[in-house]
Amino acid sequence: MSSPTPDRPVTVPDIASRKRRHDAQPIVMLTAYDEPGARIVDAGGADIVLVGDSLANNVLGFEDTLQVTMDDMVHHTAAVARARPRCLVVADMPWMSYHLSVTEAVANAAALIRAGAEAVKLEGGRRRVPVIEAIVAAEIPVMGHLGLTPQSVLSMGGYRVQGREVDTARELVAAAQALAAAGVFAIVLEGVPDVVGAAVTEAVDVPTIGIGAGSGCDGQVLVFHDVLGLGRRTPPKFVRRYADLGAAAVEAVSAYAADVRGGRFPGDAESYHGSDELHQALTGDGRHP
Ligand code: KIV
Repeated sequence: MSSPTPDRPVTVPDIASRKRRHDAQPIVMLTAYDEPGARIVDAGGADIVLVGDSLANNVLGFEDTLQVTMDDMVHHTAAVARARPRCLVVADMPWMSYHLSVTEAVANAAALIRAGAEAVKLEGGRRRVPVIEAIVAAEIPVMGHLGLTPQSVLSMGGYRVQGREVDTARELVAAAQALAAAGVFAIVLEGVPDVVGAAVTEAVDVPTIGIGAGSGCDGQVLVFHDVLGLGRRTPPKFVRRYADLGAAAVEAVSAYAADVRGGRFPGDAESYHGSDELHQALTGDGRHP
C-alpha cells in the first residue's frame, strides 16, 4: 500500500492519484475554520483540511449553509492558511458564488486561492460542468461534491439521503463521470447508500471522499466539531465522535468560575509582583507578602 506523504506539503496531484484500487491508503479529510483548528487537523495527520461552508452551522450559529458569504469564506480560509498546514487546504465555494455566471465563479474561486486555499470545492452534478471547466481552465483545482448537497436543502426538501432508487443512483454515477471528465481532481460523496458510494467510486478514476457514503470510497471526511464533540446538536448517523471536548470545556469553565468566585484565582503564581520600594510607596508597609 502506498503511504501518504508526511514530510512535505500534500499537493493536488498527490490526492488525485489516491485511488484505493491502485493500492493507495484512504484519504483523510477533516474540516477546520480557523488557525487553531487547522493546526490540530494537520498535527493529527489529515491529508486535506477543508474550510467547509459548514462554517455556517458549526461556527457562525446559522441553521444552514445558505447564509455563508464569500467574505466569510475568504476570512476563514485565510485564518486556516495562516496555520501553514502540511495538508492540502481546500475551500468551499459558498452558495451563490458560482451560480450567477461563469466569470463570477472563476473570480470567486481566485479570491479563495488568494486567501490561501490550494483548491476549491463546489456542489452539484452535470449542470456544474461549464463552471468546473472554466475554473479548471484558470488553473484552479476543483473538488466536486455530489449526493446530499447541503446548499440544495430547499430543493431537496430537507437533508435526505440521495440515490436510494435505481434511477437516481445511476444518475449519481453519470454525474460523477461528467464531473471527472470536466476535470475535478476528487469528488465528495455525501449521504448516499454504501452501495452507491462504492459504485460511484468504481465508475471514476478520480478519488471519492465519502461522508455518510459507506466504506467503499477512496477516503472519508468529517466535520471537526462532530469528531471532537463540540457540536450544538446530536450529530447525524454517519458521524463517529472521537472526543467529548464540549463537556471537557464546560467543566474547565465551571472550575475557573468557581475559583474566581471562591477567591482562589489568581494565586501568587499567576500574579506579577512589584519591588519592595513600590510596595512601600503604595501600601506604606514592607515587603509584598
Ligand atoms: O462544508 C462541509 O463541511 C462539507 C462536508 C463535505 C464536510 O462540505
